Amino acid sequence: MYLNNKALNFRAIIHQQKGIAVGDDAKKKWPTLYHDLQCGALYFQQKLFHSMNTSYNRLVYYWLWSGVILIVLMAVIGGITRLTDSGLSMSDWSLIMGAIPPLNEAEWMKAFTRYQEFPQFQQQNFDMQLHEFKGIFYWEYFHRLLGRLNGLIFLVPFLYFWIKGAFDSSLLKRMFILLGLGVMQGAMGWIMVKSGLVDVPYVSHYRLALHLILAMVIIGCCLWFALDLKYGLEPSLQEAASFSINSWLIWIGILFIAQILYGAFTAGMDAGVIYNTFPQMGGKWIPPSFSTLDPFILNLIENPGTIQWMHRLLGTLLLIAVGMFWIRGVTGSTSKLLHALSGILLCLIVLQYALGIYTLLQSVPVSLGVFHQLAAIIFWICYLIIFNRSVKSASY
Ligand code: HEM
Repeated sequence: MYLNNKALNFRAIIHQQKGIAVGDDAKKKWPTLYHDLQCGALYFQQKLFHSMNTSYNRLVYYWLWSGVILIVLMAVIGGITRLTDSGLSMSDWSLIMGAIPPLNEAEWMKAFTRYQEFPQFQQQNFDMQLHEFKGIFYWEYFHRLLGRLNGLIFLVPFLYFWIKGAFDSSLLKRMFILLGLGVMQGAMGWIMVKSGLVDVPYVSHYRLALHLILAMVIIGCCLWFALDLKYGLEPSLQEAASFSINSWLIWIGILFIAQILYGAFTAGMDAGVIYNTFPQMGGKWIPPSFSTLDPFILNLIENPGTIQWMHRLLGTLLLIAVGMFWIRGVTGSTSKLLHALSGILLCLIVLQYALGIYTLLQSVPVSLGVFHQLAAIIFWICYLIIFNRSVKSASY
């Protein structure tokens, strides 16, 4: 409130100096000037907020970064959980009690007997021994434990900062967005487990894709809000460039999201264990099973060979787009920061492409599958840093 009043006073002072009456008249008569003055007032308001909340802003900034790191860790453990087929080993969910694993042999036997009631054991793992069960149980357990920890690390500081008045209304809205996304992701995870406990021990690749994309969105929001706090008032990278950085980044972003979708489809359909050759598939540029489903459109979402082909194609387009962006950045901008960041982005995509090929040639061992997913997230973080620094933030 105080900040808003200050901003309004600032606006009124400028209006007075220019001899303009405050109100709708001014807006109609001098739209450009009115807009500039509003921006000035907003800037002043932001500066005030920043200077008054510097210590809190710094804390909130690091807190949001810790959120990014924790979610990346969760994604890595989630990847291992999926690749080791561990996701369906815990068939119950309890917020408090589920945080305690079986503590003695009798409790382990109880959990194992419960697991034996479900299709994954009956159809797939019928010869599994207790010690093997413990192995898959722990991955899912750590994944859920990290989820709980994430919730706590979000909620406790959130309430503290809120009570201390560290958030203005815009930042508070952003925190509620994060809260909503976190709840959605938890619910999504549980829906995935539930869906694999009936009839077919299989988690749909659509659900897996949604889960992965939601993880990317949460990482993206946490990071974006953190960067806005720290760099929101810094000059944008665009100012030193003779081309539209944002247009390039939007296209790269669209390609990346499509690539993540097809990556998750490839993983969810186990499409990485067929056609383990590169660049051709089954000795051809287009795999023999490319259009076996009818109607054709189904092949794009249900046919493992076509899905793997799409993942290769989109990966190649992304590689070319990032390469061109780097050339454009170096030739069309004087910003050393843009040169460095676009160079890092290019290195990351080259590495990711090579890692993808190696993962495929090796028929997706757990370690390579996990690194390939982690490298995609690191690329996303680097991409968002460039995007954030090139968009002039309006709200911070
Ligand atoms: C260049 C950009 C690329 C990006 C951003 C990317 C990203 C991804 C992502 C996010 C996944 C899902 C991981 C998971 O859910 O566990 C994935 C899976 C996969 N990708 Fe890529 N990928 C790229 C290129 C490639 C290339 C060029 C190949 C091979 C030619 C490839 C082969 C695979 C395979 C085999 C999987 C399935 C791994 C599994 O089953 O866990 N990727 N990719």
